[in-house]
Amino acid sequence: MTWLVTGGAGYIGAHVVEQLLASQRSVVVLDDLTTGMVSRIPEGVTLEQVTLTDAQLVEHVFKAHEITGVIHLAAKKQVAESVAHPEYYWQENVVGLQNLLDAMSNHGVTKIVYSSSAAVYGQPDIGQDALIDETTHCEPINPYGATKLVGEWLARSRTVSDDFSVAALRYFNVAGAGRPELGDQFEFNLVPIALSALTQGKNPIIFGDDYPTPDGTCIRDYIHVHDLAQAHVSAVEFIENKNGIFESFNIGTGVGSSVREVLKAIAHVTDIHLEPTVAPRRAGDPAQLVASVAKARDMLSWTSTRTLDDIAASAWEAWSHH
Ligand code: UFG
Repeated sequence: MTWLVTGGAGYIGAHVVEQLLASQRSVVVLDDLTTGMVSRIPEGVTLEQVTLTDAQLVEHVFKAHEITGVIHLAAKKQVAESVAHPEYYWQENVVGLQNLLDAMSNHGVTKIVYSSSAAVYGQPDIGQDALIDETTHCEPINPYGATKLVGEWLARSRTVSDDFSVAALRYFNVAGAGRPELGDQFEFNLVPIALSALTQGKNPIIFGDDYPTPDGTCIRDYIHVHDLAQAHVSAVEFIENKNGIFESFNIGTGVGSSVREVLKAIAHVTDIHLEPTVAPRRAGDPAQLVASVAKARDMLSWTSTRTLDDIAASAWEAWSHH
């Protein structure tokens, strides 16, 4: 029962590895360490330092280990970078996945949990307060989201040809830390950006406060990374004894928080007064993206348990740790 976790040295991947180990499964990590860190890999877990874009090296990993299934997190995930360098995103996220799927087929490995994203939905036309469910039309608005959606299709096509079982987890806004050592060290998203500003004595910036939301700032569904990691174990349990299926699942909380509410939670847990600066809207930001989580609850028996304050407190602890 060895699960290959691609991207297992990354921020989310390391949380997933810990939860898989806690579920009594053994783990091999595949990571090229471009953004991953060796220090995040627990003792006793083998690291294969391999890039997925090298098909031969990927093949070698499957020869070297008896692999039961794959959790595929390794990917590029910065929206702005994907707009500037789409070719890089297609190469890394799609060619890399294709190599992985080929190696799986060659070695009779048919179970995969795939890291997808709420970015597959783009700016859904479902009405201001509606929740996004998995039947909502997918229309990505940037190359990152497009590569994630195509990745779902690539994996799904193997359910017919090779009897794969695929669970695609569409992450909403991931933040927080399971332990201080595993925190997000990059300043790509609201919570780490705000914490970084705070520790430098700067004001956090709100991109637009004239949205049609109660306080005028954008609403997102913030999911604690520890809850998200547990969803992967539930997804493994879901596909483990099935053949030839594909299901996508929203992984969020079902509760929306505005940018101001997130900043308020951060001020609360850090006890630092913060005076946000309001800047113009950022291009491409939908007013509201909140998940319906009924499908994950009903089919995976998984729900989130941690609150926005838990996210803010654990992110702050991890940030201070660094
Ligand atoms: N924001 C600010 N100030 C900042 C940073 C962000 O006001 O300094 C706002 C953004 O405008 C947005 C919200 O905070 O309204 C969240 O922004 P993030 O950049 O943290 O996250 P996004 O919602 O833009 O995107 C994230 C991931 C995507 C994923 C998406 C799913 O980065 O990969 O969540 O909902 F697809």
